[in-house]
Amino acid sequence: MEYRNMGRTGLQLSVLSFGSWVSFHKQIDDSVADELMGIAYDHGVNFFDNAEVYALGESENMMGRVLKKKNWDRTSYTVSSKAFFGWRGKENKPNQTGLSRKHLTEACNEALKRLQTDYLDLFFCHRPDKKTPIEETVWAMHHLIQQGKVLYWGTSEWSGVEIMEAHRVAAQYGLIGPSVEQPQYNLLERNKLENEYQMVFKTVGMGTTIWSPLASGLLSGKYNDGIPEDSRFGLTGFDWLKDRWMKDDLLQKVKGLAGLANELGISMAAMSIGWCIKNPNVTTAILGATRKEQLLENLSSLDAAAKMDDAVMKKIEDIVQTKPVLPEF
Ligand SMILES: NC(=O)c1ccc[n+]([C@@H]2O[C@H](COP(=O)([O-])OP(=O)(O)OC[C@H]3O[C@@H](n4cnc5c(N)ncnc54)[C@H](OP(=O)(O)O)[C@@H]3O)[C@@H](O)[C@H]2O)c1
Repeated sequence: MEYRNMGRTGLQLSVLSFGSWVSFHKQIDDSVADELMGIAYDHGVNFFDNAEVYALGESENMMGRVLKKKNWDRTSYTVSSKAFFGWRGKENKPNQTGLSRKHLTEACNEALKRLQTDYLDLFFCHRPDKKTPIEETVWAMHHLIQQGKVLYWGTSEWSGVEIMEAHRVAAQYGLIGPSVEQPQYNLLERNKLENEYQMVFKTVGMGTTIWSPLASGLLSGKYNDGIPEDSRFGLTGFDWLKDRWMKDDLLQKVKGLAGLANELGISMAAMSIGWCIKNPNVTTAILGATRKEQLLENLSSLDAAAKMDDAVMKKIEDIVQTKPVLPEF
């Protein structure tokens, strides 16, 4: 495993990490979660990602039970939660969502209970909250850190401007600002990381824990001939995700990538994830998996990345043609 410093912090995260969105509680039970987290940990993964909204709190409950059973040295891994969406779904009342001091504090306390831990290594603002003053959010995160309940705080899918505004507030009042962002990043979704955040990386510095490195599985090639049973796009309630990704032009690109992966003798999934971690602005790519074979294949992306030289990267660009166009002179 390779470890990278999370942006401008001393925290080292494994370049491959493991997350629970969709899978925990909805698709897999405690025994599979136990097996997958065990495989990840044994391969050197030291970051496990979660959120209050995943399976409406049940994903954190499941991860908490597994962590308790594993009884790994708490100093050997990091665990996160994210607040914004609440965990009561349609039953959410005012103050049970968002980034107010009240919700952030309560969401943190609830996540600690569900995960059965004394502190969160990372605590993310899962989306920007357009209704809460940024000062309140930064102060609330700073206080959670002062109380020892959170070690580092970050954002997810914030704009570059919102992140810089949080830094401005932190600098103004001498508070701890955000040190990490969790954006989507994969071969088909590149703008935030490769364009919008460029200035943030250069000025205040920022780690990234990128999500959906396989575009929910599309970039494994598994959907090239339709939707297999027991796959994410076939799940009830996930039509929005299927509609987002199952598009002819995207499937054409994925099929093109499949040919290249074949030539290189690596799997599509390993090549797609390998491509993500070749970007030095990626601290860690969060893997998702519903079975052992998938996770093992995805963990092999470190070896795949080693085989991907400039010529291969150029071939990939020619196939996907998704590189953001930046101004040149
Ligand atoms: N901050 C945010 O807003 C946000 C949003 C989304 C995710 N996340 C985080 O990022 C993590 C990863 O995201 P993700 O789950 O969307 O990642 P992903 O890698 O894009 O998709 C993972 C899913 O693809 C399928 N898959 C994975 N490896 C495969 C392989 N080798 N062959 C075939 N199918 C494979 C599995 O689903 P099936 O077996 O069901 O097909 C698996 O659950 C999440 O767990 C969560 O922690 C954060």
